[in-house]
Amino acid sequence: MTITLEGVEGEDRQDFTRDESRAMRQRSLRLLGSLLRPLRGRVIIAMLIVAVSTGLQTAGPALIAYGIDTGLPAIIEQQDAMPLALIVLLYLAAAIAGAVLMWQYTMLSARISQAFLFDLRGRIYRHAQLLSLEFHESYTSGRIIARQTNDLDSIRELLDSGIQGLIRGVLYMAFIGIALLFLDPMSALVIAASLPILALLTRWFQVTSQRAFRATRIYSARLIVKFVETMTGIRAVKAFRAEERNAREFGQHVEDYRAANAKAIGVFGVFDPSLVVIGNVVVAAVLLVGGLRVADGTLAVGVLLAALMYTRRFFDPMEEMAQFYNSYQSAAAALEKISGVLDENPSVPDPTRPIDLWKARGAIRFDGVRFAYRDDFVVLPDFDLDIPAGQTIALVGSTGAGKSTLAKLVARFYDPTEGSVSLDGVDLRAMHPKDLRRAIVMVTQEAYLFSGSVADNIALGKPGAARDEIEAAARAVGAHEFILALPDGYDTDVNKRGGRVSAGQRQLLSFARAFLADPAVLILDEATASLDIPSERLVQEGLTTLLADRTAIVIAHRLSTVAIADRVLVMEDGRIVEDGTPTELIGGTGRFAALHKAWRDSLV
Ligand SMILES: Nc1ncnc2c1ncn2[C@@H]1O[C@H](COP(=O)(O)OP(=O)(O)OP(=O)(O)O)[C@@H](O)[C@H]1O
Ligand SMILES: [Mg+2]
Repeated sequence: MTITLEGVEGEDRQDFTRDESRAMRQRSLRLLGSLLRPLRGRVIIAMLIVAVSTGLQTAGPALIAYGIDTGLPAIIEQQDAMPLALIVLLYLAAAIAGAVLMWQYTMLSARISQAFLFDLRGRIYRHAQLLSLEFHESYTSGRIIARQTNDLDSIRELLDSGIQGLIRGVLYMAFIGIALLFLDPMSALVIAASLPILALLTRWFQVTSQRAFRATRIYSARLIVKFVETMTGIRAVKAFRAEERNAREFGQHVEDYRAANAKAIGVFGVFDPSLVVIGNVVVAAVLLVGGLRVADGTLAVGVLLAALMYTRRFFDPMEEMAQFYNSYQSAAAALEKISGVLDENPSVPDPTRPIDLWKARGAIRFDGVRFAYRDDFVVLPDFDLDIPAGQTIALVGSTGAGKSTLAKLVARFYDPTEGSVSLDGVDLRAMHPKDLRRAIVMVTQEAYLFSGSVADNIALGKPGAARDEIEAAARAVGAHEFILALPDGYDTDVNKRGGRVSAGQRQLLSFARAFLADPAVLILDEATASLDIPSERLVQEGLTTLLADRTAIVIAHRLSTVAIADRVLVMEDGRIVEDGTPTELIGGTGRFAALHKAWRDSLV
């Protein structure tokens, strides 16, 4: 697993051209649209509920004003408690109904955001898995992990608190404005006078806090990358005694992160008290302007009280709304990055009209193949090769000669830049993906084991295989004995203590997997590299079983493997330089003969 800092930081680049930015925005909006479309009914209902609920909550002060100005005089002057009682009941009813609706709104909006995230999470996983190897070789796993974790988290935060705060804040302020306009326009005017200052303060907050938050995001990403890198490379760390240096570096990252957080908190430290001061000054101004009018007899006391309560509440949602901007920014950036991944097309596309090849014989043909990973560096300039069905090929050649590249082309992890690779005369690009996967299997040095039992891991070669078949496969490649010696035999969990297997044993398991899959063409790329000589001998026998009756391409640096081949290909700089039976080549004067002699000499 490679997790690079560049991969994480590169995401925060800002220097996009205008066209690039527009394209990215459109891509995000398309994704957003496709995610929201199935939810739109629920979104509309949620909006209605929150509007009514906020309306009911804003009714409170107006009811109080009415109670004081109309209900109280009725009791005092006419001994009539009815109006006041009515208002108290109304007040209670509005409060309770508002609360119940708010509860409904919270539940509904949580369901909406969960459905949204559920959909998006699944899409990222499925799509990332579908993308070709080419994508994964350049898009580091650290970045794809960040898509599934950090980015989804930013979006979740926006959905769970950001948007809610914004919607409620906007509605609240709008309703208060309306209520005040009806009740006492003069107080509304006083509040309006404070709006320019408020706008300036909010703008300052947005600019400064955005910078501060971006810094905390970058530093926290660095912290995570350093941590993950240290822990995944723990063996190298220990081997080279890098603990102390790592600890120093990590300490620096922690310090940077702390400082960035302190700065971000500092921004709030200024913003929050400023809001409180502005709010209180405005309350005082409303009190002054209103008090004078009450003294004049032009304003009722109850109305003044209501105006004061409204003014007070008007400023409450401000902080949450200012915060919205931050969560919006990081969620928008996250959505842009996610939509980027979802927009990637597999570079090895499935055919539109696939050709079925039920029973492949296994004849492989390279026809005028030219292949380059990058435009400026051609790995295979002009490649022709015919492998008859059933032949076992040993492919040798120096490091970087293009052996693995050839293997990846046969397995269709990549498509040739020019020319074609075909199986039994059918171009791999036209083959049904299912048939292709059944016919051609590649085993690499990696021999990855997934969590689950040993049997599960072998059964990956043939989903639904019976236990007998699994055991037969393990026997065929010589893995049965060591599996039985594991704590729970075939049911041992490969990730549990005791279930840990060695690198060589892992390779045997991947052989069993390949044997069970029983493909027409089998490619082994350095698949025997981790085996010791005795177990390699054991495997040698297993290999003979494994390779019998099928086309095989065996890439091995160990020349002992070559003995079981029908034909040896020596590759240099993307070309075949020697081609013949092992005996022919060993007996000759070419590179292979020299190589073989050096190897023989090294054995004694
Ligand atoms: N994903 C990739 N992107 C770009 N270049 C690559 C990629 N994989 C391999 N190459 C380049 O292609 C050339 C051939 O690599 P390849 O892996 O096929 O060599 P190889 O013969 O398998 O070597 P080795 O014996 O070391 O495994 C090398 O120069 C390598 O740098
Ligand atoms: Mg290789």
